[in-house]
Amino acid sequence: MVPGEACRNFYWEGKIKAIGVSNFHPDRVMDLIVHHEIVPAVNQIETHPFLQQIETQKFLEENKVQIESWGPFAEGKNNIFQNELLLSIGNKYHKSIAQVILRWLTQRGVIAIPKSVRKERMEENINIFDFELSGEDMEVIKALDTKMSSFFDHRDPAMVKWLGERKLAI
Ligand SMILES: NC(=O)c1ccc[n+]([C@@H]2O[C@H](COP(=O)([O-])OP(=O)(O)OC[C@H]3O[C@@H](n4cnc5c(N)ncnc54)[C@H](OP(=O)(O)O)[C@@H]3O)[C@@H](O)[C@H]2O)c1
Repeated sequence: MVPGEACRNFYWEGKIKAIGVSNFHPDRVMDLIVHHEIVPAVNQIETHPFLQQIETQKFLEENKVQIESWGPFAEGKNNIFQNELLLSIGNKYHKSIAQVILRWLTQRGVIAIPKSVRKERMEENINIFDFELSGEDMEVIKALDTKMSSFFDHRDPAMVKWLGERKLAI
């Protein structure tokens, strides 16, 4: 990792084109913007049907920070790949649940970085540009939003400590 000062210099020298952050809640993003000259280009945060980040996306867009989804499939938690609502929408378009989710994120303007170790799934996951979800389907998916992480709270001091110590140990 490049330390903050060096990173800043590389940016102004044109050696770094864009600086991104991850897991920054809106208050931290604002803190960063207020106290630094460089606005992060992107914020990679947990975003999927069970945690849709609608308000956060609005905040990020207002501040010219691109939202990027990590865990677009919630890593399979809460039986996302068996979800009845997503399945019924997928059936209408002859698309899988994974494709519905990635198309839904793309239509919202959310960048997604799905992970798969299987070639056929990678192909499936990129094959989302030949259909468009209707406005009604986009609305219906909103019902799945629990507004809660499927993993852990990045604002829990104990978790932040654990993550920090884990990083130092690497
Ligand atoms: N910034 C952060 O704090 C943070 C945290 C977590 C993850 N990430 C990043 O986010 C990216 C996404 O990875 P993720 O593992 O978190 O979550 P994910 O993409 O939501 O889920 C990955 C899981 O979905 C399965 N999968 C992928 N495509 C599928 C398909 N078409 N049909 C059925 N199952 C499918 C994968 O299995 P197979 O591999 O067996 O296909 C894997 O078990 C990664 O690049 C990761 O590094 C970032």
